[in-house]
Amino acid sequence: MPDADTRAVTPRKTHPMELLINGQTYPIADNGDTRPLVLVLRDELAFTGTKFGCGAGICGACTVLVDGVATRSCQTPVNSVVGKNIRTIEGLADGDTLHPVQQAFLELQVPQCGWCMSGQMLTATAFLQNNPTPSAADIVAAMDQNYCRCGTYHRIRQAVARAAELQKENQA
Ligand code: FES
Ligand code: FES
Repeated sequence: MPDADTRAVTPRKTHPMELLINGQTYPIADNGDTRPLVLVLRDELAFTGTKFGCGAGICGACTVLVDGVATRSCQTPVNSVVGKNIRTIEGLADGDTLHPVQQAFLELQVPQCGWCMSGQMLTATAFLQNNPTPSAADIVAAMDQNYCRCGTYHRIRQAVARAAELQKENQA
C-alpha cells in the first residue's frame, strides 16, 4: 500500500471579497491571487462588454472606469480595486437613457466589429468628464492609445466631439 501523500497543500482562501460594479456589490472568492480584473469581470461575473484584446496594456480594449479614471483592466489586479467604484460599459447608460458618448457613437455609426468600442467609449467618458470642451487636438491626444483594428479612428474622433456637444446640451 503506498504511503499517504503528506505534501503540504496550501488551502484556498474562500473569504469573499466584494467588488462595487455599476453601483452594485458582487461577492467573489478571494483566492489570494492577483487575477486581472478583466478576467473576473468577464469570466466570473459575466460583464462581457469589457473585452480582452492584447492582455498587455497596449490596445485599450479592456478599459473600464475605476473611481472615474480610465483603467486597463488587463493590467489591474482584482484585489487592488476592492472598495473602489468600477464602471463598465453595462453601467454607462442611465436606465434606458444612453450616455452622451453612447448616443454619439450610435448617431455616427462608429462600430464595425465592435471589439474595441467599450474601451473607446469609457476612455471618451473619462476624458470628457475632465475636459468637457475639447479641441480636435485634445480628442486626438486623448483617444490616441485606444486601438481599433477596424480603423474607425475618424468616426471615433467625430463621435467624441459630438458627445461633448450632447453633454453640453444635456446640462443646459
Ligand atoms: S487587453 Fe488590456 S490593454 Fe489590451
Ligand atoms: S470596431 Fe473593430 S476593432 Fe474597433
